Amino acid sequence: MSDVVSYQIVDNIGVVSVNSPPVNALSQKVREGILSAVTAAQGDASEAIVLRCDGRTFIAGADITEFGKPPMAPGLPEVLSAIENSSKPVIAAIHGTALGGGFEVSLACHYRCAIASAKVGLPEVKLGLLPGAGGTQRVPRIAGVKAALDMITSGNPVSAKTALGMGLIDEVISNDDLQAGAVQYAKDLVASGAPLRRIRDITIDPATVEPGFFDAARKKLAARARGAIAPDKIVSCIEAAVELPMDKGLERERELFTELVTSPESAAMRHIFFAERLAAKIKDLPKDTVLRDIKKVAIIGGGTMGGGIAMCFANVGIPVVMVEVTDEALQRGLGIIKKNYSITVQKGKLAEDQMEGLLGLISGTTDYNDIADVDMVIEAVYENLELKKQIFAKLDGVCKQGAILASNTSYQDIDQIAAATKRPQDVLGLHFFSPANVMKLLEVVRGEKTADDVLATSMAIGKKIQKVCALSRVCYGFIGNRMLGGYGRESQMLLMDGCLPTQVDSALEGFGMAMGPLAMGDLAGLDVGYKARQGRTDLPDDPKLYRMGTLLVEMGRHGQKTGAGFYKYDPETRRRLADPIVEGMIVDESNKLDIERREIDNEEILARCLYPLINEGALILEEGIAQRSSDIDIVYVFGYAFPAAKGGPMHYADHVGLKHVYDKMCEYRDLYGEQYWKPAPLLKELAESGKTFAQWDKERGAS
Ligand SMILES: NC(=O)c1ccc[n+]([C@@H]2O[C@H](COP(=O)([O-])OP(=O)(O)OC[C@H]3O[C@@H](n4cnc5c(N)ncnc54)[C@H](O)[C@@H]3O)[C@@H](O)[C@H]2O)c1
Repeated sequence: MSDVVSYQIVDNIGVVSVNSPPVNALSQKVREGILSAVTAAQGDASEAIVLRCDGRTFIAGADITEFGKPPMAPGLPEVLSAIENSSKPVIAAIHGTALGGGFEVSLACHYRCAIASAKVGLPEVKLGLLPGAGGTQRVPRIAGVKAALDMITSGNPVSAKTALGMGLIDEVISNDDLQAGAVQYAKDLVASGAPLRRIRDITIDPATVEPGFFDAARKKLAARARGAIAPDKIVSCIEAAVELPMDKGLERERELFTELVTSPESAAMRHIFFAERLAAKIKDLPKDTVLRDIKKVAIIGGGTMGGGIAMCFANVGIPVVMVEVTDEALQRGLGIIKKNYSITVQKGKLAEDQMEGLLGLISGTTDYNDIADVDMVIEAVYENLELKKQIFAKLDGVCKQGAILASNTSYQDIDQIAAATKRPQDVLGLHFFSPANVMKLLEVVRGEKTADDVLATSMAIGKKIQKVCALSRVCYGFIGNRMLGGYGRESQMLLMDGCLPTQVDSALEGFGMAMGPLAMGDLAGLDVGYKARQGRTDLPDDPKLYRMGTLLVEMGRHGQKTGAGFYKYDPETRRRLADPIVEGMIVDESNKLDIERREIDNEEILARCLYPLINEGALILEEGIAQRSSDIDIVYVFGYAFPAAKGGPMHYADHVGLKHVYDKMCEYRDLYGEQYWKPAPLLKELAESGKTFAQWDKERGAS
């Protein structure tokens, strides 16, 4: 047939086998191979056709490297028509993950069987797309409108067992040999005179859909869309599956798919997809770096972060010892972990005995000598350099040679911490985000002397505990927190110039941030920033700077933990509510500073909050703190809930145009002063040469 698709007749059944490693993606060659095999089978002695794959999975999706390139024949719809119109039954035999276009191929078959471990799904929404080869039309026809909507708008795959219950597959094959089981299943179908069952022939009775169902679905999805436009279009496609005949529905699906594929939202989400994979690569690390074995880990400090970090390791079966100063603190730390797992059990997401297993992996001690045998230590004590240095000196004394010594510090200098030991090559930063067992990002901070194998092992262990790792060099706040400076500052400056907190936060939430900067401050605790500012000598002497943040802390309004900050919080629901006291204070403070309050639109709010963040990103790039601009995007999307549909701050800047960002920086510099608005030289250079951050990455071989 072709070098990626073969065909043979086994026991009167035509077997089409796809063999295109690693995941049998639907490249042009695979499409062509399937088409010619199915066409050839029409005229031979076979009684039915089984479509299966070699290797680790059934067709796992489209070949996304073909996106954005001119279409190459045959297109997927042509292949699906050939399957669907076959004169003999075509049976998909699924193992691994039949995703996206792969699952759509199986839906064009007349029957689907799968082994129990298989999964099927339509994850396109995660790339800002919708299933463009009939998925939105065929799934509701067999699984029902509601199930289809949930499946396609979530993008989450379902197990073979669930798929069987939903009618998405017809048989779970118990034979270990899927091909033999599928051939037997095909023979049984032929023997029983099973019809050529085409999903396209099913019509959905509109009366089975509750009135208002689609409007309600749209509203619900809009509330959590965060700038994504695909979910709404998926609703339109499923609506078309109910209201229109199949061919018209397919046309509608194609039309909306085409709109999405060329949309900036999907471009941004695809950028993040590739950026995530790229972030795992460290440019100058030899490929053959031998990893250290990590079989046991110690966490120093069982507070907010330590507990969450311990859970990350236990969750993947790695034993953890938690070290605390007093037995009381230790019991408190272990108690919080137990409570967190219990909540998961209550939600039905974890079985009681699994919880016991996980808790059995976490032990505690107050004696540092008990961690002499661990392979990795992660320190998560108070944010105090002297304390951290003392602890690392102690670790140097007790830990075995070759153990990796990491700090979860948010701001402190990893090189100074490393210098407190006689093995600085074994020291690095592993900066988790709160809550550590939930947030996906792990900033891996490379010290001056961090050894290659320490870095490579840490990236690998980060992946093992299901984090997205991004590499940073040492600087104050590393990539993420350093960039946050101007964002937080301007969110408060805007209050003095004319905004109220709800206006600032809703502008950024409308942009897609999970939470606006002021609400975020309330969540993190306004006292944290307040204390950090106390120790800084580099801040301009400006009464406008952080004025509200400072006043609120001095009034005892530390944010959510004290029930009030920029907002007040309903004690029952913990919902945030605008607070007239704060709003009045804001106006008074502007008056005291002789600032004439003015109307400020969303565009200005976004520019003033986001452009300083982007500008700092440019400095971080030229200083070599980040390897590439796409790593910065990863930090922001996975660590700071920046909307994936905007692609992270650097991709967003490329999208709005670096010249525009630079011009605005200059405009605000002239208005508000160079101490806050100093364009980064790299931003200026790229703006003047008409280049993007992505091009800059490429020119440096970073992408
Ligand atoms: N909380 C966050 O959102 C967050 C996010 C990322 C990083 N961090 C960083 O993580 C670190 C810990 O922060 P946290 O919020 O978990 O603090 P926390 O105050 O909740 O917990 C610190 C814990 O360390 C323990 N401790 C203090 N000295 C110790 C010692 N000598 N040996 C063992 N345990 C000791 C304390 O008893 C306390 O339980 C800090 O460096 C912080 O900057 C915090």
